[in-house]
Amino acid sequence: MQRRPLIAGNWKMYLTRAEAVTLARAVVESSSSCTDRDVMIAPSFPFLAAVCAAVEGSGVLVGAQNIAWEKEGAFTGEVSAPMLEDLGVQMAIVGHSERRHIFGEDNAMINRRLRGAISGAVQAVLCIGETLAEREAGKMLTVLDAQVRQALAGVTGEQMRKVVIAYEPVWAIGTGKTATPEQAQEAHAHIRHLLEEIFEKNIAGAVRILYGGSVKPDNIDVLMAQADIDGALVGGAALKAESFNRIIQFQ
Ligand code: PGA
Repeated sequence: MQRRPLIAGNWKMYLTRAEAVTLARAVVESSSSCTDRDVMIAPSFPFLAAVCAAVEGSGVLVGAQNIAWEKEGAFTGEVSAPMLEDLGVQMAIVGHSERRHIFGEDNAMINRRLRGAISGAVQAVLCIGETLAEREAGKMLTVLDAQVRQALAGVTGEQMRKVVIAYEPVWAIGTGKTATPEQAQEAHAHIRHLLEEIFEKNIAGAVRILYGGSVKPDNIDVLMAQADIDGALVGGAALKAESFNRIIQFQ
């Protein structure tokens, strides 16, 4: 099954407005020659509009770093799918490990957020991944199973076209400790197998599964060479035009 690669940059709570616009323009520039892959950047909420304007007409996708489950209402601090669509935002990250571990978001909440995104036109990038303690206790596959099944509860096969999964082992995020290509492939193959159990084989085969966790210019090529790795969710290395450009240009 041919899956179109996706290289996504998660800018987290970094960059000023001017820096965000400059970096967005550089991403447009470096991705203009790549017609066989998608590129997404996820700035902080206040700079979404400026970044959408900077990439307009380029094919570079813009993502939010989270999304509310309701369309509107008394939800202080939240931003809804229609609001994001109004800005021209096409994707939203849900369930990032920082949301889970710092802000206490659980699988049930992440499921609501994901369904909030895909009930409209926003594609969800669902992040999952085990902690080091869970891996060392031999619980990795159980944790991934629960995260996938609970976050995708109530999602139809048809809606899975609007879902991307990002496998991000928590111990690899921002630590410089990347999973080996074999470790990543093992987890990705397991996730795809799980999707086959939940949906049909052809639906599971079409879902893009990104790897995230200390992706760098010097490890992107070997990661992308794995059968079930369809792209990357990049944090630190997405904040510099030069390194993100090299990741976009993976071989
Ligand atoms: P990192 O972050 O590339 O800095 O490890 C990845 C992420 O948090 O999505």
